[in-house]
Amino acid sequence: MNGHKGCIVWFTGLSGAGKSTLAHAVEEALHQKGCRTFVLDGDNVRHGLCSDLGFSDADREENIRRIGEVANLFMQAGVIVLTAFISPFRADRERVRSMAASGDFIEVYCDASLNVCENRDIKGLYKKARMGEIAEFTGISSPYEAPTNPELIVSTGQDPLEICARQVIDAIQRYAMVSANLTN
Ligand code: ADX
Repeated sequence: MNGHKGCIVWFTGLSGAGKSTLAHAVEEALHQKGCRTFVLDGDNVRHGLCSDLGFSDADREENIRRIGEVANLFMQAGVIVLTAFISPFRADRERVRSMAASGDFIEVYCDASLNVCENRDIKGLYKKARMGEIAEFTGISSPYEAPTNPELIVSTGQDPLEICARQVIDAIQRYAMVSANLTN
């Protein structure tokens, strides 16, 4: 009915790397092509479904597990799901990947260095983390495990949003076998 399969486009990267901005830009472009999409990000997940979770390793693992399950259901409903979470642990991301058929999980590493993210500090959280006001902050006092073999790496620390969005859309077309032509 939609002219495309469901798939999961999994954005991962540091806080402030631009995951959510990029996911929404991709969603807008896909909408214009008549694709059925949904963005899962902190705004609609951490306040509800995962409002009982914090940022300990165990809570992050559970956060990603729940998001993976929800994303999987959306995918089964034929939706192109775009998820934008730090998802710092490789094993957690791989667990979600293993739920999907080959080609249906597109891992997009939003590559922006800690330096760039910290200088942007859009939410002022890096400053607080440096001052010890936020514990277990990713990149400062909690680890981030970059993907070793993602479907796509986008240089969100350097390249403009439109370039990154185009690269993601091309990857969706390539991997998820979208029949509609998304490139024009
Ligand atoms: S994840 O690690 O479980 O994937 P998630 O993407 O849901 O994290 O949430 C990250 C967002 O929560 C950050 O962009 C930031 O705004 C906020 N945040 C609050 N505390 C922390 C923390 N200790 N570490 C990282 N992000 C935090």
